Amino acid sequence: MARLASVLTLGCKLNLADSEEIARGLRGAGFEVVDRLCKADAYVINTCSVTHVADAKSRRLIRSVRRLSPGAAVTVTGCFPQSAGFDAVGALGADLVVGTRDADKATLLEFLAARGRSPLRTKNSALRTGLHTRAFIKAQEGCNDVCAFCIVPRTRGREESRPVEAVAREVARAVEAGAREAVITGTQLGAWGRDLAPALKPHHLISGLLERTEVLRLRFSSLQPQDITPELLALWQDPRLMPHFHLALQSGSKATLAAMRRRYTAAEFRNAAARIRAAAPDAAITTDIIAGFPGETNADFEATLDLCREVGFARLHCFPYSERAKTAAAGRPGQVSPAVKQERMTRLLALGDELSRAFRERFAGSTRPVLWENEREIEGERLWFGHSDNYLPVYARGMDLHNHVTRALIRGVYHDGVRGSIPGEAL
Ligand code: F3S
Repeated sequence: MARLASVLTLGCKLNLADSEEIARGLRGAGFEVVDRLCKADAYVINTCSVTHVADAKSRRLIRSVRRLSPGAAVTVTGCFPQSAGFDAVGALGADLVVGTRDADKATLLEFLAARGRSPLRTKNSALRTGLHTRAFIKAQEGCNDVCAFCIVPRTRGREESRPVEAVAREVARAVEAGAREAVITGTQLGAWGRDLAPALKPHHLISGLLERTEVLRLRFSSLQPQDITPELLALWQDPRLMPHFHLALQSGSKATLAAMRRRYTAAEFRNAAARIRAAAPDAAITTDIIAGFPGETNADFEATLDLCREVGFARLHCFPYSERAKTAAAGRPGQVSPAVKQERMTRLLALGDELSRAFRERFAGSTRPVLWENEREIEGERLWFGHSDNYLPVYARGMDLHNHVTRALIRGVYHDGVRGSIPGEAL
């Protein structure tokens, strides 16, 4: 009987990519792997530390798996140990605590493979990993920037790019395992290639993956305005590249962006969004916003709302500013009160809903290709769920659509996405 490992992931797509690599290694070592919280012989908790809330979630998860399976091997990786300290995380009940680098993953796998070689338990026939329709693949690690709010350069270290051949091999492996879509991630994906010899740019990575792999759909998880070059956008003529751009804005105020030490101005962000719209009119542009950065005035905040409306983001990910130790903004004068942060968050969330609805409504009556991921029950109805090329969450009736790409007619806004119908399927 195979031993069961539960790999639990908090945080961003970068962590998802790391968890997929760890899960693959565990399968190779004879484990059955699931990605949910359940009784298991071994746990990998891949943590996040981007805010105080992320720290608290990481802490809670370590304690709860320890309570759930007292005899299991509990390992912790990701950003939380890097910021909170390895000993402090170990004291929460972990048997092994490692960081975020490739060598750390190897240590973790060795530890779990060696621990309790005899089969332990498992009546887990009902637990299945499921075939992943989308694979998260890391092309780059680390960040050399020094944004004033951000703990990530401390948790992820210096920039390091994986050569295009290595990334292409990972994509090919995922395709062989059944994935239809590869999501390419990096701590600072736009920095990809800077550290290679000769130095390369993200468009070299993208064209290299298009040439070297057969993957049906490619998505790039996050770029910055300065990465949106004509060479890069020209590649989006290829239908295998999904029209979805995640550009983290953080603030729409010139003064706040400068205080945050972002490497672009509000005007440069506007121009980048306009370039995307010109090259790919139906593209989803999604973003991250921080509410209440130290020194942010009402006028700064209003400038953020204005820029969000102007760009017409398909989705806003909003966070209240969270002071992180040893970052430049920690302890700065002008900290915004919790009440004001909350009020700004409420307005951002309302604007996010409004913009998302407007984006979804825009496509009613058109057809989009959808990769179907899983079945969900909504208000008593079994529906297939997937994402369109431009990242619309789509719900539709159908037979077994798992891991198929079909065209869907978008009928209108539904739930958190849109309702679609597949030609030939009953409505
Ligand atoms: Fe969190 Fe680390 Fe990602 S802090 S957001 S898991 S880079």
